[in-house]
Amino acid sequence: MLPENPMLAKLQNSVKAGEKLAMLTCYDATFAKLMELAGVDILLVGDSLGMVLQGAENTLNVSMHHMTYHTKMVKNGAQNTVIMADMPIGSYEQDNEAAYKNALWLIKSGAHIVKFEGGGKRVETARYLVERGIPVCAHLGFTPQSVNQLGGYKIQGKTEESASQILSDAKAMSEAGVSFVLLEMVPAVLAKKITESINVPTIGIGAGVDCSGQVLVLQDLLGIYTGAASKSLVDFKSPRFVKNFLAESAVNGKASIQAAVTAYVQAVKEKTFPAAEHSY
Ligand code: KIV
Repeated sequence: MLPENPMLAKLQNSVKAGEKLAMLTCYDATFAKLMELAGVDILLVGDSLGMVLQGAENTLNVSMHHMTYHTKMVKNGAQNTVIMADMPIGSYEQDNEAAYKNALWLIKSGAHIVKFEGGGKRVETARYLVERGIPVCAHLGFTPQSVNQLGGYKIQGKTEESASQILSDAKAMSEAGVSFVLLEMVPAVLAKKITESINVPTIGIGAGVDCSGQVLVLQDLLGIYTGAASKSLVDFKSPRFVKNFLAESAVNGKASIQAAVTAYVQAVKEKTFPAAEHSY
């Protein structure tokens, strides 16, 4: 059994006290240090690195080796911030023992908590890891590793049936002992209902302002992601939930990455981000 992490407990307590959590993706030591100084609550070593670092069209080629490498880099830059690492496709679906082995590899690389996608059968995987001392974040709603099954980057939970499936998955994950539920691209009213119905904090991306916290991909926040390396710039359009904090925080035309990250943290804490225009 791994020892319980006091930094995770502290985050859960601040949510209970009414504070919003600011999370950002992070893949290296330089940004980890900068984000820690800016007060980011959780650094997510996301498998979005397949897209924003490797230039791929989706996250489907990301491996455990990529994830553990980047988790170590982030840990080198930030010793005092919670690090969440994504379990890449193929690392947790086949059986619970393999999921445990891979989750432990991420923890030994510096993560405090692992995240994986899906409800349904994944609830038992979450329970299996939690019972063995590995903190878990469940990722529901739009799940990028299933982009092909979902028919593209589409909002989830729009029909009554799909909304009630996401709600019941969130409840089951909370009962299984996960520490957070991340909700991606779901209607704001559904995210609010889920947040009010479960005992653990929710973290939203394209899920409205009523989640317990928010996450963005760093390159989206800086306005520097322009799509897959193989695609033309003219075909790229940022998703609705993205906001360019680099442009917004510039003073006299001068932009700074530190100021942009700080502005994001402040906007999340003050609930000015996401606004209605970033929500569904
Ligand atoms: O990999 C990632 O960056 C994520 C976010 C989209 C939440 O999972």
